Amino acid sequence: MNGDSQFFFSPFTLDCANRSLFRAGEKVFLRSKSFSVLDYLVEHPHRLVTKEELKQAAWPRAKVVDAALRVSIQEIRRALGDRAEHPQFIETIGKSGYRFVAPVSLRVAHKQGSELTNFFVGRRAELQQLREHLKLVENGRRQLVFITGEPGIGKTTLIDVFANSLDQTDNVIVARGQSIEQYGTAEAYLPVLDILEQLCRRANGELTIAMLRDLAPSWLLNLAAFTSSEERERLSRRCLGMSAERRLHEITTFFELMAKNCTLVLILEDLHWVDPSTIALISFLARRRQAARLLVIGTYRSGEVERFNSPLKAIASDLTLHHLSAQLPLKLLSQSAVEEYLISRFAQPAVSRSLASTVYSRSEGNPLFMVNVTDCLVSHQAIVQDKETVKLADNDIQEPVPTSLRDLINRQFEALPPEDQELVETASVIGMTFPVLLLARLLDREREGVERRCRELSEREQFLQYRGSRKRPSGNTSSLYGFTHALYHSVIYERAGESKRRRLHQAIGNVLERVFQEATEQVAAELALHFERAGDYQQAIKYLTRAAQKAIQQAAYQEAIQSATKGLEFLKWHCGNRQQKQQELELLLALGPAVASTKGYAAAEVGDIYNRADLLSQELADESLRVLANYGNYRFHLMTGQLRRALNIGKQMIVSARCTGDSNSLADAYTLAGVSLLHLGEFSAAQEQFDHAITAYGIRNETFVPVKHPDVLAYSLTYSAINWWITGYPAVAAEKEAQALLLTRELPHPFSTVITLIMLATYHQCRREPTRTLELCEIGIQHAAKHGFSSWLTTGMILKGWALTNLGQQSEGIALLRENLKTWRKIGCKTETARFMFLLAHAYLLANRAKAGLLVVEEALSLVAETGNRYYESELTRLRGELLLQEKSNLHKRTAFADAEFCLVSAIEIARKQKAKSFEVRATTSLARLWYERGNKKKARELLATSYEHFTQAFDTPALKDARELLDAAE
Ligand SMILES: Nc1ncnc2c1ncn2[C@@H]1O[C@H](COP(=O)(O)OP(=O)(O)O)[C@@H](O)[C@H]1O
Ligand SMILES: [Mg+2]
Repeated sequence: MNGDSQFFFSPFTLDCANRSLFRAGEKVFLRSKSFSVLDYLVEHPHRLVTKEELKQAAWPRAKVVDAALRVSIQEIRRALGDRAEHPQFIETIGKSGYRFVAPVSLRVAHKQGSELTNFFVGRRAELQQLREHLKLVENGRRQLVFITGEPGIGKTTLIDVFANSLDQTDNVIVARGQSIEQYGTAEAYLPVLDILEQLCRRANGELTIAMLRDLAPSWLLNLAAFTSSEERERLSRRCLGMSAERRLHEITTFFELMAKNCTLVLILEDLHWVDPSTIALISFLARRRQAARLLVIGTYRSGEVERFNSPLKAIASDLTLHHLSAQLPLKLLSQSAVEEYLISRFAQPAVSRSLASTVYSRSEGNPLFMVNVTDCLVSHQAIVQDKETVKLADNDIQEPVPTSLRDLINRQFEALPPEDQELVETASVIGMTFPVLLLARLLDREREGVERRCRELSEREQFLQYRGSRKRPSGNTSSLYGFTHALYHSVIYERAGESKRRRLHQAIGNVLERVFQEATEQVAAELALHFERAGDYQQAIKYLTRAAQKAIQQAAYQEAIQSATKGLEFLKWHCGNRQQKQQELELLLALGPAVASTKGYAAAEVGDIYNRADLLSQELADESLRVLANYGNYRFHLMTGQLRRALNIGKQMIVSARCTGDSNSLADAYTLAGVSLLHLGEFSAAQEQFDHAITAYGIRNETFVPVKHPDVLAYSLTYSAINWWITGYPAVAAEKEAQALLLTRELPHPFSTVITLIMLATYHQCRREPTRTLELCEIGIQHAAKHGFSSWLTTGMILKGWALTNLGQQSEGIALLRENLKTWRKIGCKTETARFMFLLAHAYLLANRAKAGLLVVEEALSLVAETGNRYYESELTRLRGELLLQEKSNLHKRTAFADAEFCLVSAIEIARKQKAKSFEVRATTSLARLWYERGNKKKARELLATSYEHFTQAFDTPALKDARELLDAAE
């Protein structure tokens, strides 16, 4: 075995690290080969170990005869004082091999910073199972194992023993993350951040930090201890708008890369309390198929998961069903394991039946209880050791051993001096772990004194354990202590009376607020919890809002919803004065994006949230919140295709921005109004808005703080380019395009870069320039995928599909279009759907699949009728005509062109009404071609000439070239 384990079989100790055997502390000499044989036997007790196995273990590279092994066994027997005919330790099994028959326990240097050793008994099969998983991992097959069972059953201990047995040099890295009880105000990814912190604190932590910076910047952003505030500022700009999927991807890539160079063991403790985001990560990690030397071990209390119907339950059973994870349920210890424990603990060869059965029946084989019952008997001097047996004292146990673990913990607590009682109780209100500095402050005692008491308690393994030290925001370093077991924490916490707890929670909240000052968002969820428990709901609501806002930044939408909903719940109990309305509004503004991201932008709930936010913001007349409420409301209506409402909101925003005189908000508002007008097909009106917007941005100052998009100027420039092109001014359009393109070089946020690139691609798609469209959207797609801007990624893919089809790769292009259109519909945004369907139908036309194209066009046109989104109405109608013509010629019908002709005429009318010259030229060209082909040259020429006349510039666009060619032919 690797590592520093020690095996104990009374009266011997086998020290693996030093390869030595001791008898009651005295070293016993063994040759190295014999030691290996004994080590192997002891590690595989109570079963037949074949001669082959033993030879392999001791002489791995040599071929040896049985006699060599026999000599070693003799030497071992001599050393142990054992006899082959009446073996106490090693039994010979015929010609096949040997068996180690004495009870063996493992001594573990168990807890961090503790001098004491514990005795580990039973759990051989479970340890074996973990080792088998490790073997698979070493062959590159990632494994996820859930260790489950009641509190105190030995989950953590089993992992400790397993982890200690690993050779934790460069080849194996073990990191642990702890979940804590958060009572519904979940901090996202708590255990994962715990793990990352440990990895960064390792000897070559700088490498890890560099890797995070490179592969998982959004995670480094959350590790305040390893980043400067300037770096965080930079990172937060880089990570703006990042999706939850992208964050999962980042961290997974990071872990997988680490697991390439070493075996990475991640331990996630107490998952019954885990946050929803971490559950998603576990599931994501387990489902990936790439080879990785990654072993994830999670522990949880099955009862708790069952009782609270945690989402973990469904995920764990689903993963297990698909063989993506294994379950390792721990059972209560058997009576013989309890006996083994007593033998090891008292270092005696035997234990009396009555003692073993007393400890067993009281503890029912729960190890935590077993250890404590034994401690209790020892402290009542109810155990005596005589010759070679440990047994109950004659006085028996007058003092009855408590029959429940809770009882027992209570008794242990009552035996502490009052000063320590106070200390432990106060600590329990801080949490499962606590900084000594904070504890001393609450107790109003000297730090050194408190530190000393904590140390002494932990040295005796009473209640507390040392958990390292942490730097506080104040710059001071404080030792951290924690409760030895969560059960201790909860029993002690419940002991402290209600009013005392409230008082302490309030005090802790106040101190934390003072200590963290400007950085309270780092501990927002914790603060919310303390204030909630203190009954200070005002403060609790304040920090629930911060926690929700922080969760949104982390793309942890479930947590954002949890915190915001809880805050809103608390607000219901209040009368609703101005301040509370303001809080309600802030909470709604955090809830909105979270619900939109999880349930889709079109979910009715999103509408309700923004509706209420809108009312509140009007009532409060708080301009900055009003802008946010309006923006959310606008977006909801635009996404759900309620364009008139969206336009009205945009107009309202223009009015408010004019009142405040804030030119940036004004520019934003003009852009939003322009976008809704464009979708309504009111291109001239839209043009005005875009012009206003660009002028307003022109006078922006350098400390430009945009409402939502990091740089709306680029956004409005690209929209403006599209609009100029549609209305028949290709040269002005090209100017705007060039300005926007220039901006992409200096945009500070990947989010705005992606938006601008995809919008520029859209501009070239409008102009029917597939090569340029493809070029731009490829870069846009790359960035969108890298940063996880999923809806922009989908848009980019749709454009790419269209471009590929136009460039001759029809089947690939159509597949891409169909797949991504499906995704788009799932996102729930109706605004662009009709245009995207146009692109698909156009691809079908190019592929000579008129029937399929017609189905799509017809659906798109009914969507246009339903939503009033007339942006592509003319184009869709023209396309319908073209598809009808294609279908007819496919069917070899030479007659009945009337339907197609009707469509083309309508397309022209629509375009004329909308003053959409470019669409008009296209429709006119199509109709003229139809007439031309049917022999009516004159009519064709006249029609085309009037439409073409308008253009005085940019004759090189595909649409105008088409028209010109036809015109020339018809001359
Ligand atoms: N296999 C074991 N042999 C001996 N003692 C054990 C064993 N498992 C657990 N214990 C004792 O029980 C205590 C609680 O176990 P722990 O692993 O913390 O439980 P869990 O994590 O399941 O709540 C440990 O501190 C240890 O003293
Ligand atoms: Mg545990």
